[in-house]
Amino acid sequence: MPLGYTFGMIKPSACRKNHVGPILAMINQAGFRISAIRSTKLTKEEAETFYEMHRGKEFYESLCEFMSSGPIIALLLEKENAIEDFRKLIGNTNPSMAEEGTIRKMFAESLQKNAIHGSDSIENAKREADFFFNQRERY
Ligand code: CDP
Ligand code: MG
Repeated sequence: MPLGYTFGMIKPSACRKNHVGPILAMINQAGFRISAIRSTKLTKEEAETFYEMHRGKEFYESLCEFMSSGPIIALLLEKENAIEDFRKLIGNTNPSMAEEGTIRKMFAESLQKNAIHGSDSIENAKREADFFFNQRERY
């Protein structure tokens, strides 16, 4: 049984450029219900924990600097088959390879500043949702 929700995060670059509204509209139009949402800013340490699985990779330090450089929008998104469908909606990690009509194709500035995060597995969706939202914030 696939998980009925996923975790998404609009990255600092897209927030800075006022792409939040258009991105949320695309998410709703794709059939996701926003069951929790918050604007917040990660500390460097929080970004390091969030991206723990990438620790040691060449892009890790720079990614964590970037992810803590400004406000982000954290999202808990409900839909049948949410994880897979949301990964399709956001598109390839590398925007130069992202399909037309995907969020990354439209709003990414670079491989690092690729506009949005989406969980890649049930385990990570649970972990990432719990990282930002307690039960009383989920409706
Ligand atoms: O975000 P996604 O799951 O598609 O990709 P990832 O492989 O889990 O990498 C996490 C994030 O690290 C990406 O979204 C990029 O922002 C960044 N990244 C990077 O800056 N350079 C790479 N070679 C790979 C990823
Ligand atoms: Mg990932």
